[in-house]
Amino acid sequence: MPKVAVIGAGTMGHGIAELFAMAGYEVALVDVADEYLKRALQNIEWSLKKLAEKGQLKEDPSAVLSRIRPVVGDVCSAVVGVELMVEAVVEDIEVKKRVFAEADRCAPPEAILATNTSSLPITEIAEAVKPERKTKVVGMHFFNPPVLMPLVEVIKGQYTSDETVKKVAEYAQKLGKQTVVVNRDVPGFIVNRILARVNEAACWMVARGEATIQEVDSALIYKAGLPMGAFILMDYTGIDVICFIGDAMLKRGFKSHPCPLILEKCQQKKYGVKSGEGFYKYPAPGKFQWP
Ligand code: NAI
Repeated sequence: MPKVAVIGAGTMGHGIAELFAMAGYEVALVDVADEYLKRALQNIEWSLKKLAEKGQLKEDPSAVLSRIRPVVGDVCSAVVGVELMVEAVVEDIEVKKRVFAEADRCAPPEAILATNTSSLPITEIAEAVKPERKTKVVGMHFFNPPVLMPLVEVIKGQYTSDETVKKVAEYAQKLGKQTVVVNRDVPGFIVNRILARVNEAACWMVARGEATIQEVDSALIYKAGLPMGAFILMDYTGIDVICFIGDAMLKRGFKSHPCPLILEKCQQKKYGVKSGEGFYKYPAPGKFQWP
């Protein structure tokens, strides 16, 4: 059976691992602590059961789950024999580079090392690997929740070869996804570059007292036709992640005017669904419910 490794078992990593396992891959899923992996496996099991109830799973949830091997902390052992690694750790360039250096040391020479980063340059992450691996470092950017969202951005860094881009697009297609190839490694790529502007505009309207959070979100859902309003989407994404992304883009030349409401939520650790409160309140932290 083909093997992949997913590094980071949080909001994104557990969903990406689930997708690969559903497509028949053996998946090594790595996180820094056992408790995070246990929570990830519980979330995957819950999601697989939901898919089975809807008749969207070809096999028993336990069969899919049995293809996911939790690994505490050890990136090296997880990438032995893999054809692909997808990194989904915290949005911090130093942490990501450490993961890439370790994976480069232990993965087969032909393995592709992909990152699910939302905003960090692929070219900068590729600096962590040996020169001969640089053509195999690429962005594979899923959206939240990976199991349901149809798009994967495939991002080409300065060194990424066309062959790597093609192979990653093929992996995404095997997972049932649509792909957009992003040829310029610009901050935020395509989707997050646009969303950053939407979030900023929405947030400043509220900060200036021009509209309420509910009014902005209602307008975006019921008139602009978006599935979620800007504030509920930030809660769902994780406001900590929004702050990391904003900071990374700002540092790399993206001109923006950071909105105090978002920064305040980060300082108060009101991260949204994951912490039980963000712009809205969630009575069961970690579980999304329409407010
Ligand atoms: P998260 O905070 O939910 O999960 C990150 C996980 O990585 C945590 O469980 C953490 O313990 C683990 N981790 C940290 N350092 C590690 C290491 N050295 N080795 C193994 N695991 C480690 O974050 P989330 O939201 O899953 O984001 C992960 C990546 O995906 C980020 O780069 C983010 O920008 C990107 N992303 C996030 C989206 C979202 O909606 N939350 C959407 C698309 C991309």
